[in-house]
Amino acid sequence: MDLYTRTGGGPAVATAVDALYRLILGDDRLSGYFAATDLPRLKGHMVALLSQVLGGPQDYTGRDLRGAHVGLGITPADYDLVGAYLLGVLAGLGVDDEVLGAVRGVLGSVADDVVS
Ligand code: HEM
Repeated sequence: MDLYTRTGGGPAVATAVDALYRLILGDDRLSGYFAATDLPRLKGHMVALLSQVLGGPQDYTGRDLRGAHVGLGITPADYDLVGAYLLGVLAGLGVDDEVLGAVRGVLGSVADDVVS
């Protein structure tokens, strides 16, 4: 079973998107990155992020990761912060350690494309 299904599929991902969005916007170390991003796009970001790390069905066909983040000046520390929030949200949904480990792996492998 893929990670997306094991996390709980669409409903669980929708819950995770909401939680992640609240955590990121509520953290003034992170909210500034999204100051020029409108709400639908912002939620779209969280969906894209989660789908990417879980290998979900909503295949993203927009800008590649590097192109989307180039020039945003995302620091390694802020990247790790988002990763920690994401893992916390997934753990809160009760996903198993194997899924959390796999998500950690994806976060590690795409970091270079997102961090400036
Ligand atoms: C694995 C981690 C991440 C993935 C998969 C991801 C995915 C994406 C994608 C697909 C886009 C393009 C969206 C579009 O063109 O509409 C995007 C844009 C963006 N991302 Fe990320 N992202 C990640 C991490 C982060 C982090 C850590 C930050 C900031 C702390 C961030 C901030 C942004 C911003 C500000 C945009 C531009 C939004 C806009 O168009 O206004 N991303 N991201």
